[in-house]
Amino acid sequence: MTTPTNYVPGLAGIPATESSISYIDGQAGILEYRGIPIEELAEKSTFEETAYLLLYGKLPSQSELDGFRERLSARRALPDRLIETLRLLPGAGHPMLGLQVGVAILGMHSQRVNLRDPESMENAAIKILGSVPSLVAAVERARTGLDFVQPKDGMDTAEAFLWMMSGEDPAPVAVRALDAALILHAEHTMNASTFTSRVVASSESDPYSVCAAAIGTLKGPLHGGANERVLDQLEAIGEVENVRPWVEERLSHKGKVMGFGHRVYKTKDPRSNILQDLGNRVFEELGGTPMYELALELERVMDEKVGHKGICPNVDFFSGLLYQKLGIPTDLFTPIFAIARVSGYMAHWLEQMPDNRIFRPTQVYTGAREASYVPMSERD
Ligand code: ACO
Repeated sequence: MTTPTNYVPGLAGIPATESSISYIDGQAGILEYRGIPIEELAEKSTFEETAYLLLYGKLPSQSELDGFRERLSARRALPDRLIETLRLLPGAGHPMLGLQVGVAILGMHSQRVNLRDPESMENAAIKILGSVPSLVAAVERARTGLDFVQPKDGMDTAEAFLWMMSGEDPAPVAVRALDAALILHAEHTMNASTFTSRVVASSESDPYSVCAAAIGTLKGPLHGGANERVLDQLEAIGEVENVRPWVEERLSHKGKVMGFGHRVYKTKDPRSNILQDLGNRVFEELGGTPMYELALELERVMDEKVGHKGICPNVDFFSGLLYQKLGIPTDLFTPIFAIARVSGYMAHWLEQMPDNRIFRPTQVYTGAREASYVPMSERD
């Protein structure tokens, strides 16, 4: 096999798989799950129905949806020993690391998955999807020294998570907003963490390892971790009149403004528009935030300075403002992203495994050849 030399940094524009799960048009600002526009799903669907759509490739009938919701709900309780183990983790550590650990321990408490048996695979995907909200809540409770709040029957993911995180019944507007935010974050073609998930899956590793590895990638500030950095950034800017000089200073040394830019979108990310509307609805009911004015000014100044280069708000720009209003601590923003995105990882896993080939790309070697070993006494 000859080695191709056309190395593309970041594999930009290189197809890594064929997939029928989601579709993006980055110029037109279109995102579809199984062909259905994200705007329609955010308005009319629920996270459970959307997760079903991603996993099974079609919208469920009422009885299929009811059965799926029951199966997810039944997976929410965590083994006592897992909760005890989470209590041993350092409280100051990032909850994304806690979630990674939690998903791996969940795998240790689970039956071995048979990759030749679709039912065994489906059960594992549902177990992960049902348990991840509980794991995030358990990590949060453990680090603050509080007892795990047991899930209640009949609650869907958004409500169950807010309940298990706080031990209080959440406001309906909060549940609806989080549910829609989960829909928006569920899947996004061959992003860095989904690519990670596919690489791990390709070695026929188990789905817990697949998700734990992908969660590690999602944590990074260039990917899902940007949402918490956006709030840090707004806090650092402080006042609306500081926005322009802050942006000018940042861009003058090629610094990145968090919550802007995307490998594929060269217009405003459609999810960002929907999150902005969701935020506005929540602010109307639960009260506004001065940070929103700052964010709008940041968007205006960025549009003026770099909008022509296609550097526009991405999904992470408005999500933090919304989550903050829902009483969610800043470093749980990315774990919430993970609650949604494991549905995408598992949809890719189910799609990939029946026709899998191990990922083993090549490299363009730039080092020395046929060098001699130099004994220690002769080295400089
Ligand atoms: N602020 C300022 N300049 C930017 C930004 C930004 N947020 N994003 C890209 N640019 C500029 C770069 O400086 C570069 O300029 P140059 O051509 O003059 O050197 C050019 O745009 C291309 O940027 P790259 O980083 O090479 O683009 P890439 O496609 O590799 O990266 C990424 C995309 C990582 C999202 C980038 O836009 C970024 O770092 N954004 C900030 C972090 C962020 O918000 N991440 C969340 C993305 S959404 C998600 O993953 C869920």
